Amino acid sequence: MKITVVDKKLSRKKCTCVIFNEKARENRFVINGKAEALEVKVPKREDMTRRKWIILVRTIVREAKKYDMNRIEIVWGDLVNFDNLGENLGQTFAEAAYMAHYEFTKYKTEPKEGWGDVTEIVVIANKADKTLKRQDIRKGVTIATQINFCRDMANTPGADMTPTTLVASTRKAVKGTKIKMRVLDEKQMRRKKMNGVLAVGQGSSFQSRFIVLEYTGTNPTTKPTVLVGKGVTFDTGGIDTKPHPYGLEMMMDMSGAAAVISAIVAASKLQINKNIVVLIPVVENMPGGSSFRPGDIITMMDGTHVEVGHTDAEGRLILADALTYAKMYKPSTIIDVATLTGAALAALGERASAIFTQDEELAQKTLETAEKTGDYAWRLPLWDEYDVEISGTHGDISNINTKQKPGYGGSITAAAFLKHFAKDHKSWMHIDIAPTMTAVFDEQLAKGAKGSPVRLLVSLLEQK
Ligand code: BES
Ligand code: MN
Ligand code: ZN
Repeated sequence: MKITVVDKKLSRKKCTCVIFNEKARENRFVINGKAEALEVKVPKREDMTRRKWIILVRTIVREAKKYDMNRIEIVWGDLVNFDNLGENLGQTFAEAAYMAHYEFTKYKTEPKEGWGDVTEIVVIANKADKTLKRQDIRKGVTIATQINFCRDMANTPGADMTPTTLVASTRKAVKGTKIKMRVLDEKQMRRKKMNGVLAVGQGSSFQSRFIVLEYTGTNPTTKPTVLVGKGVTFDTGGIDTKPHPYGLEMMMDMSGAAAVISAIVAASKLQINKNIVVLIPVVENMPGGSSFRPGDIITMMDGTHVEVGHTDAEGRLILADALTYAKMYKPSTIIDVATLTGAALAALGERASAIFTQDEELAQKTLETAEKTGDYAWRLPLWDEYDVEISGTHGDISNINTKQKPGYGGSITAAAFLKHFAKDHKSWMHIDIAPTMTAVFDEQLAKGAKGSPVRLLVSLLEQK
């Protein structure tokens, strides 16, 4: 699909127009389809918000797709004729349209008549219209292309997105960019004592890996921003196996990895002038004869002895070593992104990621950016009081809460665990994206992976 901006209506070509007529202005507009007219509800003027506008743009694309309209025209002046939509509408429009256009069809047989598809959106905009800069559309398309790549990776079943294939996909994604890629194998990880990663991956028939991506967007001596992504290609829970149906979506347990890969590729395509490092521990969490066990005590890369209270709390174990590994970069900021806890879903539902940080400025900046980009987030506490809740019996700390009833504040416990390994970093934030891993029914997106929080990460990277 492409988005073209023109300053006059192209009357020659056959197309489907999105009409914002006076009558419909109040609460809806009409799309004249091939077969029949189509109505898309528009919120009332006074009820319109940026959040609803994003959904509106997606609705137009989804409806047009549904009715096989392959070319739609939209009058920009009418689409943005609302108060309080905020800034950067061109980019936001392109992101919304591309995200709505996405479908995961890799495993679907194409019907004889082909996929009904929107191949072009024509935006009719006055050249003088300050709300639409053409380069903003291009930028939105670049970012959304990476978001959709992220969704492809996450949606791919566990059999086809193994540690081996995740490395291969990453290699393909960074090809032709300025990003340098290195991959540590198990032997190299053993030498570095990355035993958290190795323990979680030891039950799998696939070898674990550790991916390092480096993008130099400014003076090489400038301290980088480090992004860490959870790369569990499939999470069975390990010996403490997940019961049905909790395993069904666990091919998406590498969504954090997919998001940070997508973010660094977008940053390089947008030539963001920052140095960025991406670190990804890649494992499969499997039960088997060589799996790690409940009660095992792992000596982590930084020397901490961690008791395994639960083999399904594996994400924090692999992230911990990545946080330790990151110290050699002396990052100005380090952000980890992970589908870490079901408890974050219990706390927030599916409409916001949970953020944890003790850096007040970063917290505020992230919450504002989340609201603007549409990758919504909400802050949960990371107070030191929680630290005692993960104290160990024979080891130093446990990978689960040992002081509360199971489930109490589970996403905070996980964050407190990570904080133990991040304490030498001057600015660290943890984003638990379990809540936003998949699209919600009314978000006007294809079922499955949502590609969060790529928009949030790219926007944070762009800022100071
Ligand atoms: N990957 C899961 C968390 C998850 C659950 C992500 C649902 C997305 C949707 C994680 O590894 C996990 O299993 N966490 C456990 C931790 C518990 C055993 C302390 C959980 O949340 O139940
Ligand atoms: Mn798990
Ligand atoms: Zn997991």
